[in-house]
Amino acid sequence: MCGIVGYVGNKSVADILVDGLEQLEYRGYDSSGVAVMNKEEITVFKAIGKLNNLRTELSKHVGEFEKATMGIGHIRWATHGAPTVLNAHPHTCNCGNLVLVHNGIIENYKELREMLTKEGCVFRSQTDTEVVAHLVARMYAKTKDLAEAVRQASKQIEGAYALCVMHNNHKNTLVLTKRNAPLLVGIGEGEFFAASDVPAIIKHTKKAMYLNDNQVVVLTPDKMTLTDSEGNILPQKIEILPWEPVALSKMGYKHYMLKEIHEQPDVIRNILVGKLHAPDENIILNEVKLTKETLKNLNRIQIIACGTSLHAAMVGKYIIENFCGIAVDVEASSEYIYRRTVTDEHTLVIGVSQSGETADTLTAIKQSKAKGSHILIITNRPDSAMAREADSLVPVNAGIEVSVAATKSYTAQLMAFYLLALYMAEVKESVSKEELKNLKAEMMILPQKIEQVLSTTEEIQKSARKYSSTKDFIYVARGINFPTALEGALKLKEISYINATGYPAGELKHGPIAMLDETMPVLSILMNGCVYEKLLSNSEEAKARNARMIALTNSKDEKLDDLFENIIRVPDVDELYSPLLAIIPLQLLAYYIAEFLGKDVDQPRNLAKSVTVE
Ligand code: G6P
Repeated sequence: MCGIVGYVGNKSVADILVDGLEQLEYRGYDSSGVAVMNKEEITVFKAIGKLNNLRTELSKHVGEFEKATMGIGHIRWATHGAPTVLNAHPHTCNCGNLVLVHNGIIENYKELREMLTKEGCVFRSQTDTEVVAHLVARMYAKTKDLAEAVRQASKQIEGAYALCVMHNNHKNTLVLTKRNAPLLVGIGEGEFFAASDVPAIIKHTKKAMYLNDNQVVVLTPDKMTLTDSEGNILPQKIEILPWEPVALSKMGYKHYMLKEIHEQPDVIRNILVGKLHAPDENIILNEVKLTKETLKNLNRIQIIACGTSLHAAMVGKYIIENFCGIAVDVEASSEYIYRRTVTDEHTLVIGVSQSGETADTLTAIKQSKAKGSHILIITNRPDSAMAREADSLVPVNAGIEVSVAATKSYTAQLMAFYLLALYMAEVKESVSKEELKNLKAEMMILPQKIEQVLSTTEEIQKSARKYSSTKDFIYVARGINFPTALEGALKLKEISYINATGYPAGELKHGPIAMLDETMPVLSILMNGCVYEKLLSNSEEAKARNARMIALTNSKDEKLDDLFENIIRVPDVDELYSPLLAIIPLQLLAYYIAEFLGKDVDQPRNLAKSVTVE
């Protein structure tokens, strides 16, 4: 959640901070702020709403910070306290000498606030963060050493945090620390950058150091000092980030989401390069360390994920069980972490996460790792905290996804599951060579099939207009496309705020059918395969209740013309791959409905792309 940037060097700091925050806007965008070190003292500027409001605020005060070369910035996704100017970061201590920004949640903030209030601290915000500002200032009063004050305060804090701190008495020093939240330092010539994610700094430098939990870094323009929680000096592991300066451009598309939807054929092609050369060759997953012996010793697989990644995981269950004959459970990470899970060294735990940072998934992974499970991570960020916990890794290579609603990262995750399931089937020899060859041959032509779906965009746009005034929307499917129904509904509600729900079609008559009447659109994901006829019957039942029936299908069945008022067609494909094609029109449908309604497609209200709080 939230985004942090920091800079100490010789350049004018305000632009560096605000540009950095812009690259992190996908993490949250309800308020923002910067603190800059002027000649005399720190000055703080804040604004509610989008980053442009902060820009406007700063433009009124240019003369006050032109020469400043050190500062910190923050973009917020509110957890404690509404998005107001007072709650926006940076936060200060009583006297205003100490200023900090924070990403994460301080779990014991109530106790700390009570204690600090008794000691005379005056709180101005409702945030959990403000306690840290007072706490560090209190430690600083005793030690007169900013890094030591941060270390001592950290010991009293429970929860997750990345912190970037500055103080009026230290005109060219930033102090950083973190626990269970990402933070890295970018290294330039006579300058250092701090950021909660790479996009904020990649324009300036590719040389960086990731902080580990409880480490403290002191940055001055010409020096970086890394210590552990006791103040012992640590060696610095500097790496070259495997990123190109991200040209965050919409490439002529109106929104990032539309651009990202259209990138999907190339994303899938890129994934296949290097992993599958020809149908009769083995799948190459260099970072997967699952031997025949490990697979033989497995009792079960647990897949843990959140949001869109959870839907990819549900498809993953279906295909792994189908190809490998191993029982798979899928669970939302937030449900997994607060109960007694039956997970041990005979369980393979797969974590799926676009960002590799989602707090619930990261906690779940750490818990299962502690129980001895082999951890396999499917992520778009091989440099993430989750990837660092992995025994095996499947990178999804979707490229940076800017739009909050996940699209290309979802299809890339599905591809990761197809490759993984076939890879395990090869190792386990659970699928015949002939069948594997056919499946791989079809996999290799999936990008062309997605292109065919994308060529029908105009039709989908027309359908979107037709349904844009609806208040509710139901998506039904069975089998491997049930997760497609959930994901299609999620896309629509995320960006259009229409109440959309996905149901397994067989469950319709156990309750949801009561909602059907002539105002309710029901979209059936009718892919050729083992549940086709069953789903057709379920669609008949819905039609009999006068629902507005829409089919998303690869069938040429003429019966459909009578049953459905609208038919969205996709090319024929093996049932097992059908989720990959079926989701594309649903992404487009959601996009065009939201766009028609004039919603903020790329940054929908209340959401954030990276959720680093539990
Ligand atoms: C947020 C995003 C979703 C995403 C989910 C899980 O809610 O808005 O798009 O699916 O987090 O994120 P992850 O990075 O773990 O896939």
